[in-house]
Amino acid sequence: MPAHTPPPSSGDLFGSPDEEAPWDEPIAPGAVLLRRYACARAPALLAAVKAIAAAAPFRHLITPGGQRMSVAMTNCGAQGWISDRRGYRYGPRDPLSDQPWPAMPDILAELAREAAARAGYADFAPEACLINLYRPGARLTLHQDRDELDLRAPIVSVSLGLPATFLFGGLQRADPTRRFPLVHGDVAVWGGPSRLAFHGIAPLRDGLHPATGDSRVNLTFRKTR
Ligand code: SIN
Ligand code: FE2
Repeated sequence: MPAHTPPPSSGDLFGSPDEEAPWDEPIAPGAVLLRRYACARAPALLAAVKAIAAAAPFRHLITPGGQRMSVAMTNCGAQGWISDRRGYRYGPRDPLSDQPWPAMPDILAELAREAAARAGYADFAPEACLINLYRPGARLTLHQDRDELDLRAPIVSVSLGLPATFLFGGLQRADPTRRFPLVHGDVAVWGGPSRLAFHGIAPLRDGLHPATGDSRVNLTFRKTR
């Protein structure tokens, strides 16, 4: 090797010099943040989201209590999560069009499966991908993901675009909540003893991100039954 050859940089391995190698940050039993895990695939993920939203537009769902959610949502996959006056549930069709939800692109399903495996959950096969769109001010109050029938499967949640603050508590609503920053490419996986942990997203702060402009996109993968 000639003396002037530079040492291999992370750019050789991870696509571009500003992409760091992912690292794992356990936050609770069964729960881990896979830092920057989705960075390299983010452009393809966002292109897929754009195509999905062209067929099944983002909309602000109404809670059973009659509140308009500040986060706009759509879905892809065999099942989509919806909320209306009748309650929270999964269904195979977009209520806006009465068409099936767009299929889950392989690039999404593969990312979810690989992230789950890295977090210790082998053979994760999500049927549902809820796509959340946050604009500044949008938030998700503390809640449990408990509309799924099979609680053995984890939740895999991918953050893209503007940073957010993830609130992660315990199994009781009143348990103390810790705050974790989530940035572009971070993936949170929680299951096992943390599967029913209360969690949420603090109100999104103003900002501009090169990949998403003035918004944050979150992909939440779930096995629903
Ligand atoms: C969720 O709890 O369903 C989404 C969390 C997030 O936006 O990171
Ligand atoms: Fe959730």
